[in-house]
Amino acid sequence: MQKDPQYYIDLEYKYGAHNYKPLPVVLDRGEGIFVWDTEGVKYYDFLSAYSAVNQGHCHPSIVNALNQQARQLTLTSRAFYNSSLGNFEEYITNYFGYDKVLPMNTGAEAVETALKLCRKWGYEKKGIEENKAVIVFATENFHGRTLAIVSASTDQDSKGGFGPYMPGLEIIEYNDLNALEEALRDSNVAGFIVEPIQGEAGVVVPDEGYLSKAYELCKKNNVLFIADEVQTGIARTGRLLAVDHENVKADILILGKALSGGVLPVSAVLANDDIMLCIRPGEHGSTFGGNPLSCKVAEAALKVVKDEKLAENAEAMGQIFRERMANIDSPLVELVRGKGLLNAIVIKPFGENKTAYDVCLAMKEKGLLAKQTHTHIIRFAPPLVINKEEIMQACDIIEQTILELTPELV
Ligand SMILES: Cc1ncc(COP(=O)(O)O)c(C=O)c1O
Repeated sequence: MQKDPQYYIDLEYKYGAHNYKPLPVVLDRGEGIFVWDTEGVKYYDFLSAYSAVNQGHCHPSIVNALNQQARQLTLTSRAFYNSSLGNFEEYITNYFGYDKVLPMNTGAEAVETALKLCRKWGYEKKGIEENKAVIVFATENFHGRTLAIVSASTDQDSKGGFGPYMPGLEIIEYNDLNALEEALRDSNVAGFIVEPIQGEAGVVVPDEGYLSKAYELCKKNNVLFIADEVQTGIARTGRLLAVDHENVKADILILGKALSGGVLPVSAVLANDDIMLCIRPGEHGSTFGGNPLSCKVAEAALKVVKDEKLAENAEAMGQIFRERMANIDSPLVELVRGKGLLNAIVIKPFGENKTAYDVCLAMKEKGLLAKQTHTHIIRFAPPLVINKEEIMQACDIIEQTILELTPELV
């Protein structure tokens, strides 16, 4: 194997599309909360593949489930029944408390599924006139990369140059209940889709009470409350779901990422019968959605979350993390925010046009990988299996990096 990281970086640059700008580190192995590069250097992983690896890298019981099922049956398509899907469907619906699940693969596909389901419900159950349904989105949302989803984006990088956009959507200010109340006056509104905490926007936490009041407004107006928990779900924020912080039960729940512990793309949409049964045979699907391999992997991944009490651990470790960050004695740190182990710090501009990316580069040199979002925010989201000693060591690295860069503050 080639050890020189530049070899791999050059290969990707030459043969891959340039749709990402990764940190210059080439990872070759992962275990638990750590990853190693091609030269054997060990790092704390404080991104967890955007919260897909909540259970830790290569979790043995998830990998075992993968190996076992991979030898038995991987894919049948939904043209036939398979001996894994029904058990998984029973397991996940009991786990989250819904009547039915619709399994897909990526987060974006699950969001698309939820949007289609919502429109269908709007026509069949709410009685919205054909082709008139509206779905309400929040500013700064991130729900994925498909055309329908970017149509609802307010981020020019995601959206610009990809028009024409999908009609039937309205975008209102995030964390603004008056705006929601106003938008819901339109009787063509079928649903409101929201991230309980906006991950990609920079771990933006809404005011306490926002989600529960938004849910009430939706109920009052016969509108579906759709929670996109692709990033916040599955114990990341210190509860099984981020909406649990406000005792909200979404009408449609969207999950992805950690549903497989980062082993395979597995996503799911959950809803009760009155909503889910609006979709009938032939109206929606996916060749890989609900495949036996994904079912076994996802079941194992969800079991790990309960068995290892990952929500409780995320809550406890998150408190330590935020306390340590808030106590860093540096004007470079403008703000610390988050819930559980989904956190971010906002930094002030420093040096000559330096940004959060430069802080991430400096942390990498000290053995910790994290990712900037926008120019001035760094997200910290380690696997939820991290323990106290490890989180303290990681906080030491972050603190030292910030203190070393502080003299560059202009
Ligand atoms: C809240 C949210 N929804 C949807 C997605 C899209 O998921 P995927 O990249 O698997 O399509 C993401 C990805 O970051 C996300 O954070």
